[in-house]
Amino acid sequence: MFSSQVAVVSILLTLVGAEELVFPPGFKFGAASSAYQIEGAWNVSDKTESIWDRALHTLPWMSTDGTNGDVACDSYHLWQRDIEMAEELGLKFYRFSLSWTRLLPNGFANKISEDGKNYYDNLINGLLEKGIEPLVTIYHWDLPQSLQDLGGWTNPLISDWFEDYARVVYSLYADRVKTWITINEPVAICDTAYSMGTFAPGIIHLESVYLCSKNVLLAHAKAWRVYDEEYKPLYHGKLSICNHWVWFEAHTEDDEEAAELSRQYSVGRYTHAIYSNEGGWPPAIEERLNAYNVLHGYSHPRLPPFTDEEKELVKGTYDYYGFNYYFSLMARRALPGETITPHYVAGIRELGIVMEAYPDLSPTLPPAFYKYPEGLRKHISWIREKYGDLELMIAENGFYSTGKMNDFDRMDYMHDCLEQMLLAITEDGANVTGYSYWSLMDSFEWNESGLKFGLYHVDFNSTERTRSARASADYYKTVIKNHALHSPRP
Ligand code: BGC
Repeated sequence: MFSSQVAVVSILLTLVGAEELVFPPGFKFGAASSAYQIEGAWNVSDKTESIWDRALHTLPWMSTDGTNGDVACDSYHLWQRDIEMAEELGLKFYRFSLSWTRLLPNGFANKISEDGKNYYDNLINGLLEKGIEPLVTIYHWDLPQSLQDLGGWTNPLISDWFEDYARVVYSLYADRVKTWITINEPVAICDTAYSMGTFAPGIIHLESVYLCSKNVLLAHAKAWRVYDEEYKPLYHGKLSICNHWVWFEAHTEDDEEAAELSRQYSVGRYTHAIYSNEGGWPPAIEERLNAYNVLHGYSHPRLPPFTDEEKELVKGTYDYYGFNYYFSLMARRALPGETITPHYVAGIRELGIVMEAYPDLSPTLPPAFYKYPEGLRKHISWIREKYGDLELMIAENGFYSTGKMNDFDRMDYMHDCLEQMLLAITEDGANVTGYSYWSLMDSFEWNESGLKFGLYHVDFNSTERTRSARASADYYKTVIKNHALHSPRP
């Protein structure tokens, strides 16, 4: 926000006497989804297999209950109802992702699917007709299986294939889409996939984590530069990568270094190269991981080095800072001889760090999700401290439950996170310009299909996939309408 806007906001806030409750003028509310999780129609028309289709069809351990996203919310057919829900909520924007194999059945840009192209055309035009901005994620985890067969994110050529895919996407939609995310959560693509093996392609191989980390950054940078050079001058949109942000708090005062290393390992590894002045890997992580490799007899560094040219290519490839916030963890140094259980990012074991739940927070399902709204404000401060006063966008923030309609716990969590975000804006001066709730509707939740994040309940037992508003949808709708935060409790 510009300083004149801040002044106007604070005068207004003083007038209404509710300093922390009113959102800045122009602040945008949205809701999010992703292609594999909602579209279904996995083999309709000329769409080909993605790595999630393959994994959930062939690796039984990948899903908790043997289900998959073959039909999901059937948004391929029910997209008009999705737009209607976005309108009911009064959303300013709807964030959704494109399925790479629906648009480019070969994975490569030599063939564009007519049906795939029309599907997203209709969705974008339908949203715009209702005054809702489309916010498009180019890649939300569903890599073409044909590219996985060539090594996927571990093959250095993938950054060129992604660049080609992004260029096609801009050529089709950049005239109407003004806000973009290149890649959602590299930590899920590289770490959850290759260090935990719990996400597609489901291969546990630590070396691959770091090859993937580097290639994701190069792919993002190439796609950003195509937009910046060829499309931004025409359409003036903005584009960034989107990270998953876990706030790591030090267990005791002595654990501050462990907490900071955890932040640098899980997020800095995907942000330092883009947002820092010097570019490349976060030095503390590079030094420690490379020392690990020497100790274990490897002849190459653990983090594949960037050439000077690559550093320059990646550095500065952002228009805002996008991130998703769900939970926080405590970090501490491992005790001598302590066995470290993998948690969230398995590779962090290499740094001798243990991550645990906050002692006074009760874990809910799955244990990785420890609600700690304060972590949101803390990590907004961290981002600003490291990278300066950037425009920030919360591209996902959500709460899961087992499916009930009167979801007061979700409303409480949403309220508490929005309150922390407002404190970051009003007290700390952060320039947060948008918030997107995850998710518009219950969707296929990757390998935890029992979890429901939706403002709208989806009846997965009905062929119509009937959508019904939960109490939280009404709550969010009122917050958006008033442009102010109120307690969900009477
Ligand atoms: C992902 C979503 C997922 C959500 C809840 C986010 O990190 O981007 O795809 O559904 O977490 O698990």
